[in-house]
Amino acid sequence: MGKMHARMPKNFVLEERLERYASAIEPAPERYAGRWAEACAPLPFSTEKGAVLTDARELGRFSSVRLDLGCGKGSFLVESARRESDVLFVGMDAEPVCVAYAAQAVCEANVANAVVVPGNARKLDRYFAPGELERIYVNFPTPHPKARDARERLTYLDRLLAYRALLAPAGTLRLKTDSQPFFAFTLTQLKLAGYEVLEKSCDMRAAHPNDPVTGYEERLCAQGASVYGIFATPGPLPERVEQTAALSLMDYLPHDLDSLDYVPLGMERAVENFRNRRTKLAARALSGTR
Ligand SMILES: C[S@@+](CC[C@H](N)C(=O)[O-])C[C@H]1O[C@@H](n2cnc3c(N)ncnc32)[C@H](O)[C@@H]1O
Repeated sequence: MGKMHARMPKNFVLEERLERYASAIEPAPERYAGRWAEACAPLPFSTEKGAVLTDARELGRFSSVRLDLGCGKGSFLVESARRESDVLFVGMDAEPVCVAYAAQAVCEANVANAVVVPGNARKLDRYFAPGELERIYVNFPTPHPKARDARERLTYLDRLLAYRALLAPAGTLRLKTDSQPFFAFTLTQLKLAGYEVLEKSCDMRAAHPNDPVTGYEERLCAQGASVYGIFATPGPLPERVEQTAALSLMDYLPHDLDSLDYVPLGMERAVENFRNRRTKLAARALSGTR
Protein backbone atom coordinates (compact mmCIF):
# COMPACT_ATOMS: atom_id res chain seq x y z
CA MET A 1 0.00 0.00 0.00
CA GLY A 2 1.14 3.63 0.02
CA LYS A 3 4.46 4.30 1.71
CA MET A 4 2.95 4.70 5.14
CA HIS A 5 0.89 1.50 4.88
CA ALA A 6 3.50 -0.79 3.41
CA ARG A 7 3.56 -3.09 6.39
CA MET A 8 4.49 -6.67 5.77
CA PRO A 9 2.39 -9.01 7.91
CA LYS A 10 4.27 -11.56 10.00
CA ASN A 11 4.94 -14.82 8.16
CA PHE A 12 4.29 -13.14 4.83
CA VAL A 13 6.94 -14.38 2.43
CA LEU A 14 6.51 -12.18 -0.58
CA GLU A 15 8.36 -14.28 -3.13
CA GLU A 16 6.43 -17.38 -2.10
CA ARG A 17 3.12 -15.59 -2.49
CA LEU A 18 4.02 -14.08 -5.83
CA GLU A 19 4.95 -17.52 -7.05
CA ARG A 20 1.86 -19.22 -5.69
CA TYR A 21 -0.47 -16.75 -7.40
CA ALA A 22 1.65 -16.23 -10.52
CA SER A 23 -1.16 -17.37 -12.80
CA ALA A 24 -3.00 -14.10 -12.07
CA ILE A 25 0.09 -11.86 -12.45
CA GLU A 26 1.48 -10.44 -15.67
CA PRO A 27 5.06 -9.45 -14.83
CA ALA A 28 5.91 -7.89 -18.21
CA PRO A 29 2.92 -5.73 -19.14
CA GLU A 30 4.85 -3.95 -21.94
CA ARG A 31 4.45 -7.12 -24.00
CA TYR A 32 0.68 -6.72 -24.12
CA ALA A 33 0.41 -3.04 -25.06
CA GLY A 34 -2.21 -2.78 -27.77
CA ARG A 35 -3.46 -6.37 -27.48
CA TRP A 36 -4.69 -6.90 -23.93
CA ALA A 37 -8.24 -7.71 -25.07
CA GLU A 38 -7.10 -10.55 -27.35
CA ALA A 39 -4.04 -11.78 -25.48
CA CYS A 40 -5.88 -12.32 -22.19
CA ALA A 41 -9.07 -13.83 -23.62
CA PRO A 42 -9.67 -17.46 -22.73
CA LEU A 43 -9.02 -19.81 -25.65
CA PRO A 44 -11.86 -19.63 -28.18
CA PHE A 45 -14.15 -22.58 -28.65
CA SER A 46 -15.92 -23.29 -31.92
CA THR A 47 -19.51 -22.11 -32.29
CA GLU A 48 -22.22 -23.12 -34.66
CA LYS A 49 -22.37 -21.10 -37.85
CA GLY A 50 -24.73 -18.15 -37.58
CA ALA A 51 -24.72 -18.13 -33.78
CA VAL A 52 -24.63 -14.68 -32.18
CA LEU A 53 -21.29 -14.30 -30.50
CA THR A 54 -21.31 -12.46 -27.21
CA ASP A 55 -18.99 -14.27 -24.86
CA ALA A 56 -15.29 -13.37 -24.71
CA ARG A 57 -14.49 -17.03 -25.26
CA GLU A 58 -16.55 -17.21 -28.43
CA LEU A 59 -15.19 -13.93 -29.74
CA GLY A 60 -11.58 -14.65 -28.84
CA ARG A 61 -11.33 -11.21 -27.29
CA PHE A 62 -12.76 -9.20 -24.44
CA SER A 63 -15.22 -6.46 -25.38
CA SER A 64 -13.17 -3.83 -23.54
CA VAL A 65 -10.29 -3.30 -21.13
CA ARG A 66 -10.51 -1.38 -17.86
CA LEU A 67 -7.68 -0.42 -15.55
CA ASP A 68 -7.92 -0.34 -11.75
CA LEU A 69 -4.98 1.94 -11.02
CA GLY A 70 -3.57 1.40 -7.51
CA CYS A 71 -5.78 -1.67 -7.03
CA GLY A 72 -4.50 -2.42 -3.51
CA LYS A 73 -5.60 -5.85 -2.30
CA GLY A 74 -7.93 -6.31 -5.26
CA SER A 75 -11.42 -6.59 -3.79
CA PHE A 76 -12.90 -4.00 -6.19
CA LEU A 77 -11.05 -5.62 -9.09
CA VAL A 78 -12.42 -9.08 -8.35
CA GLU A 79 -15.98 -7.95 -7.68
CA SER A 80 -16.01 -5.87 -10.89
CA ALA A 81 -14.70 -8.85 -12.85
CA ARG A 82 -17.35 -11.10 -11.37
CA ARG A 83 -20.11 -8.78 -12.51
CA GLU A 84 -18.97 -8.20 -16.11
CA SER A 85 -17.42 -11.32 -17.56
CA ASP A 86 -16.92 -9.89 -21.08
CA VAL A 87 -14.67 -7.08 -19.81
CA LEU A 88 -11.00 -7.53 -18.96
CA PHE A 89 -10.04 -5.87 -15.67
CA VAL A 90 -6.37 -5.06 -15.23
CA GLY A 91 -5.36 -4.24 -11.66
CA MET A 92 -2.11 -2.36 -11.32
CA ASP A 93 -0.18 -1.54 -8.19
CA ALA A 94 3.32 -0.28 -7.53
CA GLU A 95 3.65 -2.22 -4.26
CA PRO A 96 4.61 -5.88 -4.64
CA VAL A 97 2.73 -6.77 -1.45
CA CYS A 98 -0.47 -5.45 -2.98
CA VAL A 99 0.20 -7.29 -6.22
CA ALA A 100 0.52 -10.52 -4.23
CA TYR A 101 -2.71 -9.92 -2.30
CA ALA A 102 -4.66 -8.89 -5.40
CA ALA A 103 -3.42 -11.93 -7.33
CA GLN A 104 -4.46 -14.15 -4.43
CA ALA A 105 -7.93 -12.57 -4.51
CA VAL A 106 -8.20 -13.20 -8.28
CA CYS A 107 -7.10 -16.85 -7.91
CA GLU A 108 -9.40 -17.54 -4.98
CA ALA A 109 -12.40 -15.99 -6.77
CA ASN A 110 -11.51 -18.00 -9.85
CA VAL A 111 -12.33 -15.18 -12.28
CA ALA A 112 -10.89 -15.50 -15.79
CA ASN A 113 -11.21 -11.83 -16.69
CA ALA A 114 -8.95 -10.16 -14.14
CA VAL A 115 -5.17 -9.87 -14.20
CA VAL A 116 -2.76 -8.10 -11.86
CA VAL A 117 0.21 -6.13 -13.05
CA PRO A 118 3.10 -4.76 -11.01
CA GLY A 119 3.64 -1.27 -12.32
CA ASN A 120 3.76 2.43 -11.73
CA ALA A 121 1.22 4.94 -13.04
CA ARG A 122 4.15 6.97 -14.34
CA LYS A 123 4.81 4.33 -16.98
CA LEU A 124 1.29 3.67 -18.19
CA ASP A 125 2.08 4.66 -21.76
CA ARG A 126 4.43 1.70 -21.97
CA TYR A 127 1.80 -0.76 -20.79
CA PHE A 128 -1.17 0.32 -22.90
CA ALA A 129 -1.62 1.59 -26.44
CA PRO A 130 -3.42 4.83 -27.28
CA GLY A 131 -7.20 4.38 -26.99
CA GLU A 132 -6.90 0.92 -25.43
CA LEU A 133 -8.68 1.63 -22.13
CA GLU A 134 -12.42 2.04 -21.87
CA ARG A 135 -12.18 3.11 -18.26
CA ILE A 136 -9.57 3.99 -15.65
CA TYR A 137 -10.59 3.61 -12.02
CA VAL A 138 -8.65 5.56 -9.43
CA ASN A 139 -10.00 4.38 -6.09
CA PHE A 140 -8.84 5.98 -2.85
CA PRO A 141 -5.48 7.08 -4.24
CA THR A 142 -2.61 7.88 -1.89
CA PRO A 143 -3.26 11.58 -1.13
CA HIS A 144 0.30 13.03 -0.88
CA PRO A 145 -1.05 16.14 0.88
CA LYS A 146 2.13 18.26 0.76
CA ALA A 147 2.62 20.68 -2.13
CA ARG A 148 6.07 19.32 -2.83
CA ASP A 149 4.63 15.82 -3.40
CA ALA A 150 1.67 16.95 -5.51
CA ARG A 151 3.14 15.46 -8.68
CA GLU A 152 2.81 12.01 -7.13
CA ARG A 153 -0.98 12.28 -6.99
CA LEU A 154 -2.70 10.07 -9.52
CA THR A 155 -4.89 12.99 -10.59
CA TYR A 156 -2.11 15.56 -11.00
CA LEU A 157 -2.32 17.45 -14.31
CA ASP A 158 0.51 15.52 -15.99
CA ARG A 159 -1.14 12.20 -15.16
CA LEU A 160 -4.50 13.34 -16.49
CA LEU A 161 -2.84 14.36 -19.75
CA ALA A 162 -1.28 10.92 -20.03
CA TYR A 163 -4.63 9.17 -19.37
CA ARG A 164 -6.27 11.23 -22.15
CA ALA A 165 -4.17 9.45 -24.75
CA LEU A 166 -4.88 5.98 -23.38
CA LEU A 167 -8.64 6.35 -23.04
CA ALA A 168 -10.87 5.08 -25.87
CA PRO A 169 -13.31 7.57 -27.42
CA ALA A 170 -15.91 8.40 -24.75
CA GLY A 171 -13.75 6.51 -22.24
CA THR A 172 -13.99 7.62 -18.63
CA LEU A 173 -11.84 8.25 -15.61
CA ARG A 174 -13.58 7.35 -12.35
CA LEU A 175 -12.33 8.61 -9.02
CA LYS A 176 -13.45 7.65 -5.55
CA THR A 177 -11.87 9.16 -2.45
CA ASP A 178 -12.60 9.80 1.22
CA SER A 179 -10.83 13.13 0.90
CA GLN A 180 -12.79 16.30 0.19
CA PRO A 181 -9.51 18.22 -0.44
CA PHE A 182 -8.30 15.57 -2.90
CA PHE A 183 -11.69 15.70 -4.65
CA ALA A 184 -11.56 19.52 -4.88
CA PHE A 185 -7.94 19.46 -6.09
CA THR A 186 -8.84 16.87 -8.74
CA LEU A 187 -11.64 19.08 -10.08
CA THR A 188 -9.08 21.84 -10.70
CA GLN A 189 -6.78 19.42 -12.52
CA LEU A 190 -9.54 17.97 -14.69
CA LYS A 191 -10.45 21.47 -15.82
CA LEU A 192 -6.84 22.33 -16.64
CA ALA A 193 -6.45 19.06 -18.60
CA GLY A 194 -9.62 19.66 -20.63
CA TYR A 195 -11.82 16.94 -19.16
CA GLU A 196 -15.55 17.18 -19.05
CA VAL A 197 -17.03 16.21 -15.68
CA LEU A 198 -19.94 13.87 -16.31
CA GLU A 199 -20.86 13.35 -12.70
CA LYS A 200 -19.59 14.44 -9.31
CA SER A 201 -20.90 13.61 -5.91
CA CYS A 202 -20.06 14.04 -2.25
CA ASP A 203 -21.90 10.82 -1.54
CA MET A 204 -21.06 8.24 -4.18
CA ARG A 205 -22.54 5.44 -2.11
CA ALA A 206 -25.96 7.06 -2.24
CA ALA A 207 -25.56 7.90 -5.95
CA HIS A 208 -24.41 4.37 -6.89
CA PRO A 209 -25.45 2.06 -4.08
CA ASN A 210 -24.75 -1.11 -6.04
CA ASP A 211 -21.22 -0.32 -7.18
CA PRO A 212 -18.51 -2.71 -6.02
CA VAL A 213 -16.90 -1.50 -2.81
CA THR A 214 -13.12 -1.11 -2.56
CA GLY A 215 -11.01 -2.32 0.39
CA TYR A 216 -10.30 1.20 1.60
CA GLU A 217 -13.88 2.25 1.05
CA GLU A 218 -15.11 -0.43 3.39
CA ARG A 219 -12.57 0.43 6.06
CA LEU A 220 -12.86 4.21 5.87
CA CYS A 221 -16.65 4.28 5.67
CA ALA A 222 -16.75 2.24 8.85
CA GLN A 223 -14.72 5.09 10.38
CA GLY A 224 -17.24 7.70 9.25
CA ALA A 225 -15.89 8.70 5.83
CA SER A 226 -18.11 9.86 2.98
CA VAL A 227 -17.19 8.80 -0.51
CA TYR A 228 -16.49 11.64 -2.93
CA GLY A 229 -16.53 10.67 -6.57
CA ILE A 230 -16.05 12.02 -10.07
CA PHE A 231 -16.72 10.54 -13.52
CA ALA A 232 -14.95 12.49 -16.28
CA THR A 233 -14.15 12.12 -19.96
CA PRO A 234 -11.57 13.93 -22.11
CA GLY A 235 -13.01 16.99 -23.88
CA PRO A 236 -11.15 19.37 -26.19
CA LEU A 237 -7.59 19.98 -25.04
CA PRO A 238 -7.21 23.60 -23.91
CA GLU A 239 -4.87 25.72 -26.06
CA ARG A 240 -2.67 26.45 -23.11
CA VAL A 241 -2.09 23.74 -20.52
CA GLU A 242 -0.41 24.98 -17.40
CA GLN A 243 -0.51 24.24 -13.69
CA THR A 244 -2.22 27.15 -11.93
CA ALA A 245 -3.92 25.40 -8.99
CA ALA A 246 -2.92 25.52 -5.32
CA LEU A 247 -0.85 22.39 -4.70
CA SER A 248 -1.10 21.77 -0.97
CA LEU A 249 -4.22 19.84 -0.02
CA MET A 250 -4.41 22.02 3.09
CA ASP A 251 -5.59 24.80 0.78
CA TYR A 252 -8.70 22.81 -0.03
CA LEU A 253 -9.80 22.14 3.55
CA PRO A 254 -12.73 24.15 4.90
CA HIS A 255 -11.55 27.25 6.74
CA ASP A 256 -13.24 26.21 9.95
CA LEU A 257 -11.22 23.13 10.81
CA ASP A 258 -13.23 22.55 13.98
CA SER A 259 -16.25 21.78 11.81
CA LEU A 260 -14.36 18.88 10.31
CA ASP A 261 -15.82 15.73 11.82
CA TYR A 262 -13.85 13.38 9.58
CA VAL A 263 -10.18 13.92 8.78
CA PRO A 264 -9.24 12.33 5.44
CA LEU A 265 -6.72 9.51 5.37
CA GLY A 266 -3.13 10.76 5.27
CA MET A 267 -4.02 14.26 6.51
CA GLU A 268 -4.32 13.49 10.20
CA ARG A 269 -0.93 14.91 11.15
CA ALA A 270 -1.23 17.92 8.84
CA VAL A 271 -4.64 18.85 10.23
CA GLU A 272 -3.41 18.45 13.79
CA ASN A 273 -0.37 20.66 13.14
CA PHE A 274 -2.56 23.24 11.49
CA ARG A 275 -4.98 23.27 14.43
CA ASN A 276 -2.10 23.54 16.93
CA ARG A 277 -0.52 26.37 14.98
CA ARG A 278 -3.81 28.24 14.97
CA THR A 279 -4.32 27.70 18.71
CA LYS A 280 -0.78 28.99 19.40
CA LEU A 281 -1.30 32.04 17.21
CA ALA A 282 -4.59 32.76 18.92
CA ALA A 283 -2.96 32.38 22.36
CA ARG A 284 -0.11 34.67 21.34
CA ALA A 285 -2.51 37.28 20.03
CA LEU A 286 -4.44 37.06 23.28
CA SER A 287 -1.36 37.50 25.48
CA GLY A 288 -0.32 40.46 23.29
CA THR A 289 -3.57 42.20 24.05
CA ARG A 290 -3.20 41.77 27.80
C1 LIG B 1 -4.85 3.87 -0.37
S1 LIG B 1 -4.53 2.51 -1.40
C2 LIG B 1 -6.10 2.15 -2.17
C3 LIG B 1 -6.21 0.75 -2.68
C4 LIG B 1 -7.51 0.39 -3.39
N1 LIG B 1 -7.70 1.13 -4.61
C5 LIG B 1 -8.71 0.58 -2.49
O1 LIG B 1 -9.50 1.48 -2.73
O2 LIG B 1 -8.83 -0.20 -1.53
C6 LIG B 1 -3.61 3.25 -2.73
C7 LIG B 1 -2.90 2.23 -3.58
O3 LIG B 1 -2.31 2.88 -4.71
C8 LIG B 1 -1.01 2.34 -4.94
N2 LIG B 1 -0.24 3.37 -5.66
C9 LIG B 1 0.14 4.59 -5.18
N3 LIG B 1 0.84 5.26 -6.13
C10 LIG B 1 0.89 4.46 -7.22
C11 LIG B 1 1.46 4.59 -8.50
N4 LIG B 1 2.13 5.68 -8.84
N5 LIG B 1 1.32 3.57 -9.38
C12 LIG B 1 0.65 2.44 -9.02
N6 LIG B 1 0.09 2.26 -7.82
C13 LIG B 1 0.19 3.24 -6.92
C14 LIG B 1 -0.50 2.02 -3.56
O4 LIG B 1 0.53 1.05 -3.58
C15 LIG B 1 -1.77 1.53 -2.87
O5 LIG B 1 -1.93 0.13 -2.98
